[in-house]
Amino acid sequence: MATLKTFRLLLLGSGGREHAFAWKLAQSKRCAKLFIAPGNAGTLAHGQNVQINPLDFPALEKFVIDNQIDMVIVGPEEPLVRGIWDYFQEREHLKNIPVIGPSKAGAVLEGSKAWSKKFMLRHKIPTAGYQEFTAETLDAGLAYLKNHALPIVLKADGLAAGKGVVICQSHAEAEAEMREMLGGKFGASSARVVVEEFLTGIEFSVFALTDGKTYKILPEAKDYKRIGEGDTGPNTGGMGAVSPVLFVDSAMWTKVEERVIRPTVEGLKKENIPYKGFIFFGFISVNGEPFVIEYNCRMGDPETEVVLPRLKNDLVTLFDNCARGTLGRVKIRTDKRTATTVFLVSGGYPGNYEKGKVITGLDQVKSGIAFQAGTAINKAGECITAGGRVIALTSLGKDIPTALRKSNRNAMTIQFEGKYFRRDIGKDLII
Ligand code: AMP
Ligand code: GLY
Repeated sequence: MATLKTFRLLLLGSGGREHAFAWKLAQSKRCAKLFIAPGNAGTLAHGQNVQINPLDFPALEKFVIDNQIDMVIVGPEEPLVRGIWDYFQEREHLKNIPVIGPSKAGAVLEGSKAWSKKFMLRHKIPTAGYQEFTAETLDAGLAYLKNHALPIVLKADGLAAGKGVVICQSHAEAEAEMREMLGGKFGASSARVVVEEFLTGIEFSVFALTDGKTYKILPEAKDYKRIGEGDTGPNTGGMGAVSPVLFVDSAMWTKVEERVIRPTVEGLKKENIPYKGFIFFGFISVNGEPFVIEYNCRMGDPETEVVLPRLKNDLVTLFDNCARGTLGRVKIRTDKRTATTVFLVSGGYPGNYEKGKVITGLDQVKSGIAFQAGTAINKAGECITAGGRVIALTSLGKDIPTALRKSNRNAMTIQFEGKYFRRDIGKDLII
């Protein structure tokens, strides 16, 4: 058998998701070299960090050429929404270097909520009812709110660092929020606002990798967005996650695939939108019926930290098939065990918090993986906090309690001033 091609890889991003990608990519025999731009203190264990901003396309271009990179893997949404795929396609010397992630036209699934709602309507994909408004239609928007049932969901159309969705409990609050958003609360991202029907149910996330022709479904996950135990307090980037999600049974999988995943991939194809990358489907199950509440054009964070540890496939081979359009050959193999991840965050997060706190105990993490997010190395060579979400502690076990016990034990072992974590990740799913 011919030897399989090996790859010099460039991974973009710096969160726990990217540490998990780096960890998984580095396990592949087909990974000849891994660079992470910019990476964090955790990715250093699996490759070489390079200090390039993932939004600086000319700097990435130079690095890719100078270092003979064979494939670029994009972690966060912003480079995709700004067109990194197109940047490579449009340049003769870059166009044969695959970028794992959609074209700018595909990233609009995440980059514009109004566009994604229209896409779902066009392809009859179940989602909450909605209307959209701009500053020109403010009066119509305010009138629309008056007759809207409570609560009311307002969404800034564009990217807003995870803060663009506001659930209003009164008409006065909704009216004030609409004025603020259309007044520029999130800059150009809230120049258009989607007003959506509130759906009551339980959330879960599903991930597909598509090569534009077909798709492969990865293990599902549930994340825990609120800062407080029992899902209380403000929203965060994600305090933890579990996979699998047992209420997503075979009947639900059939609906999810037939009504949402397949029509989404077919829809992109019919509309000639190049898409070779991840699609993240955020669902609410309303009495057993799945509704899409959001699309993302990338993997989730912290969901990646529980999905990749359950994925048995070689990730470089998976991406190679994605790039070549041969995903149809691949069979996804999944570890049957449950994965939990618990995020250690800085005191004060998601509000103001301090950085630069020395982290100890990382070497004592047992039967689990510490995926680092907001970490850095200081001048003295110590690992320090450098963000709100600091370290995600992933463990595998036969069920949620077993995995969670390990994640929580490791969460207690690691120390830094102001450390906080939720002890109840996945507890609502224990049957
Ligand atoms: P997003 O920023 O799009 O992830 O949305 C943030 C959160 O808002 C979601 O995880 C849901 O909890 C909630 N959400 C969004 N849309 C709806 C909706 N139509 N009904 C109820 N909750 C929603
Ligand atoms: N955990 C949700 C997200 O990555 O958007």
